[in-house]
Amino acid sequence: MLHRKVKTFGRKSGRMSGAEKAALEELLPGLLIPELPPVNLSALFEREAPTFIEIGFGSGDFLFDQAVQHPEFNYIGIEIYLPGIAKLLRKIQRYNETAPIGLHNIRIARHEAAFFLREFVPPHSLSGVYILFPDPWPKKRHHKRRLINPSFTRLLKERLLEDGIAVTATDHEGYAEVIRDAFQEAGFRAGSPPAKEVSETKYARKALSQGSDIYSFLFEA
Ligand SMILES: C[S@@+](CC[C@H](N)C(=O)[O-])C[C@H]1O[C@@H](n2cnc3c(N)ncnc32)[C@H](O)[C@@H]1O
Repeated sequence: MLHRKVKTFGRKSGRMSGAEKAALEELLPGLLIPELPPVNLSALFEREAPTFIEIGFGSGDFLFDQAVQHPEFNYIGIEIYLPGIAKLLRKIQRYNETAPIGLHNIRIARHEAAFFLREFVPPHSLSGVYILFPDPWPKKRHHKRRLINPSFTRLLKERLLEDGIAVTATDHEGYAEVIRDAFQEAGFRAGSPPAKEVSETKYARKALSQGSDIYSFLFEA
């Protein structure tokens, strides 16, 4: 795995159940994006279809639900936390056991997100990017680790199609302001509020249970 110098993420490994380890072994080789850039999206999904990326999908609930609800779209999930990847794969495995047609529209990148977007994803190729509850790094000395900043939003703009969207949410008020400014600076326009599902991820539920407010945004490229 390759990544850039500024650390933007915490844990990379952790506990997994036996079933999750088995799902990793069985499914990951077929779904993992090859180590060498760039990605040819139509070859990767064996079809032409709008492609959406979720960055930092955590345990993958949102990504999985989107892929099930929209078989007509392609989804790439970027995550470096292996137990999170295993949880997503376990969901896909369970789904494939009962659904007449399995889930064929998800691929996984285990890379640092900015590196993956810059090196692997062709310019102006994405219909949408989701970044739900990126690590807020609340301490001032850690702000440089935040994923969303003006250079990152400029990179997103270059990777999105002209009518592409970026959807993000956070429960950290200070980060919400930084996010709004960074997208505006890169030339995005504020769109209509995102669907309620973006506030139903694992981290969203945790934030809501602690009484935090959620700030969610949809930006148009
Ligand atoms: C706070 S969690 C949110 C998970 C999920 N989106 C949710 O809302 O429940 C942030 C996730 O982003 C991942 N992450 C953080 N920085 C990343 C980066 N630079 N590239 C890829 N993944 C990253 C972490 O491993 C973690 O799983």
